[in-house]
Amino acid sequence: MNVPNHIAIILDGNGRWAKAKGMPRSYGHVKGCANLETICDDMKELGVKYLTVYAFSTENWKRSREEVEGLMKLFRNYLKKCIKISEKNQMRVKIIGDITAFDEDIQQKIVELEEFSKDYTELHFQIALNYGSRDEIVRGIRRLAQDAAEGKIDPKEIDEEQIGNYLDTAGIPDPDLLIRTSGEQRLSNFLLWQLAYTEFYFTDVPWPDFHKPELIQAIEAYNHRDRRYGGVKEES
Ligand code: FPP
Repeated sequence: MNVPNHIAIILDGNGRWAKAKGMPRSYGHVKGCANLETICDDMKELGVKYLTVYAFSTENWKRSREEVEGLMKLFRNYLKKCIKISEKNQMRVKIIGDITAFDEDIQQKIVELEEFSKDYTELHFQIALNYGSRDEIVRGIRRLAQDAAEGKIDPKEIDEEQIGNYLDTAGIPDPDLLIRTSGEQRLSNFLLWQLAYTEFYFTDVPWPDFHKPELIQAIEAYNHRDRRYGGVKEES
């Protein structure tokens, strides 16, 4: 099995999964969070080097106050716990997105986790929090324009690689496979620039039920794809 170097996942369906069990949405998020821990172990075991997950979008603030507060509590606990997980998996953790919108203590926990895990190389784990791809591009272009205005960059020399360096994902290779759980088939403002050549895999399985067998199924489907990037298909 050819294992993708970088897998991105849109974690969807926690709420519906919980509702189907007669439970509150927050229960779905707790289970979804637990599943994130297991899937990191699975990724490492399978030899995936980069994993990026969409955990909280710039749009998710519109959810009920109760749900947003529940998610913040979950992030707080997880970010703390993630220090141990990163050590166990030798996993570097990075947060992508605009973290300035979070409470000070959450921002502090993010800094601590990133600093603690910065030398690990077994798995590179990116968590998108308050992330929106258009917002990421706007923030990146602002910095780029500022650098150009200050004469640090010649506008004539701006190319794709340089734009990539101004995104939150600078230094991280583009995803090879994108998985979205729970039936929706859209990108929802996730990694619009980075997914230009990525294979997409959609499954009806809700995130809390997406385990190693489902992951292997997704990788097998990826293995059957013909990835030719606009070139001519090789004779078989
Ligand atoms: C999508 O399900 C899930 C979210 C918006 C939150 C994702 C959060 C987690 C997986 C847990 C916490 C993560 C971290 C990083 C600690 P949904 O609520 O949109 O489900 P629905 O589409 O069925 O309503």
